[in-house]
Amino acid sequence: RAGTVAAPGSAPRTEAAAGPGQRLTILYGSQTGNARRAAEVLFDQAQAAGLPARLLRADAYPTRELAGERLLYVVISTQGEGDPPDDAIGFVEFLSGRRAPKLPELKYAVLGLGDTSYADFCGIACRIDARLAELGAQRVAEVAKADLDIETVAGPWRESALARAGELLKAAAPAGAGHLATVTPLRPAANWSHERPFPAEVLENQSLSGREFRGTGFRSYGEVTKDVRHLELSLDGSGLAYEPGDALGIRHRNPEPLVAQVLEATRLDGDAVATEGGDSLPLAEWLATRRELTRLSRPFLAALAERSGSAELARLLEPGNAGFAALLADHQLLDVLRRWPADWTAEALLAALRPQVKRLYSIASSRKRVGDEAHLTVDVVRYQAHGHAHVGAASAFLAGLGEGDQLPVYVEPNERFRVPADASRDIIMVGPGTGVAPFRGFVQERAETGAGGRNWLFFGAQHFNTGFLYQVEWQEALRRGELHRLDLAFSRDQAAKVYVQHRLRERGREVYDWLQSGAHLYVCGAIAMGKDVHAALLEIVATHSGGDAEAAAEYLSSLQSEGRYARDVY
Ligand code: 2AM
Repeated sequence: RAGTVAAPGSAPRTEAAAGPGQRLTILYGSQTGNARRAAEVLFDQAQAAGLPARLLRADAYPTRELAGERLLYVVISTQGEGDPPDDAIGFVEFLSGRRAPKLPELKYAVLGLGDTSYADFCGIACRIDARLAELGAQRVAEVAKADLDIETVAGPWRESALARAGELLKAAAPAGAGHLATVTPLRPAANWSHERPFPAEVLENQSLSGREFRGTGFRSYGEVTKDVRHLELSLDGSGLAYEPGDALGIRHRNPEPLVAQVLEATRLDGDAVATEGGDSLPLAEWLATRRELTRLSRPFLAALAERSGSAELARLLEPGNAGFAALLADHQLLDVLRRWPADWTAEALLAALRPQVKRLYSIASSRKRVGDEAHLTVDVVRYQAHGHAHVGAASAFLAGLGEGDQLPVYVEPNERFRVPADASRDIIMVGPGTGVAPFRGFVQERAETGAGGRNWLFFGAQHFNTGFLYQVEWQEALRRGELHRLDLAFSRDQAAKVYVQHRLRERGREVYDWLQSGAHLYVCGAIAMGKDVHAALLEIVATHSGGDAEAAAEYLSSLQSEGRYARDVY
């Protein structure tokens, strides 16, 4: 989520002294940084091959230039159920809309990043690919669809896409053209990363919901209660720096009971050593640290169908079967291992399971307040389904950490989610549930820097009693004048649901006035909440500006492109 990228207001990274007809434009849209990194590698390789190229984040791309492009490579991820990353919303809308130009001169290729645990795998990349073709552009390579092990697909795609770019640009370049201007240095020096995390010491791990679990967190299967935890981690000695709005990536171990249950369901021996890619580990260790043991994926289910010989599962996997999306969404690995017993070997299981997915948690603190620490707000996922208990692997692991334990971490910057550079601006923060985490950091940061603008927080939870996260801190911040307004929505304390968007609507006039006078607006939390809040904002803007729905949509998208309406939804 960071680096030397072409954000609005900054210059694109490059530049090749070649005209639009003789250069490669690389556009990326990225939510968590993976697509950005994949695009950066493509750009670096293009440079190394002597190809004139430029690299831009989709929201920094002047869409009027599209008609003049000759060679365009798009690297873009797909969020959850098929949405574009926030930084590509405008580009995708422009491309799908009536204003998109015909592109008969354009050659292009699309690299999609996605997650096979969602039914609409790489949906955005596919739609961009199809739309560019519809506009008359010529595909130089089939759309590539990378799963979580991105490089398996991205590496070979880059190689062939760059070879094609070399041929095309050489053919287009008149003799002597195409020489490169000086290129600015690329991304910052290597730091702690997903591959090389820093072992942070746990300083504190306390319940914010006022209810401690029996036992050590993840061992208390079978009981289902709301449990939100506040973790304080020491970054002492790491040199790790973060800004409020950034996320902390963590490396977790899958809870032991989960590993044991997977071994039991597959009738495999956890002590047996398995080798893959040159690494030899006991199977139990592979499962604890290197594989996903909760969310399913299509490739895994395909492997299970084959090994179990289940006709029922094979039917569910047929294209267009409506039961498939439900199977993915409502079942975890154990559910299907138990339902369709199969003849597994350790090697086959490791090959079929997905590599461990990155876990990012919004940081809930400001270094200006807490020094060399990072705080997290963690919703511990546990629920009953299909007759037994389910856990969220990473959150259950975090819940079970004790003081003095070590947690491997790194920082994943999110440059689109920052307190305003102009400290006199007001801010409106919408963050129900653990979506409130970055706003604790924002309020700390603005208090410590003496920011002049006002801070308005909309918070929501199911119950006042168990869900009012950081209640005492917010009350103190109000008293000290560090938080100026607080609106609360407890959804289940009365018969009718009350959500943050209801509170926003009730305060619509003032929300609109704040925006009109330059306030920045932030939304963090669940994807569905983000959509409903967006709909409420459209209504608010339409009502109080006296404009129609279309004008309201334009108002919000211009806030977005000015960097005054930012979302961090998951
Ligand atoms: P619920 O669980 O009672 O539906 C934090 O999780 C809070 O966000 C809870 O009060 C939860 O309410 C609420 N929430 C759930 N879905 C939401 C949505 N689409 N928009 C806004 N808030 C929502």
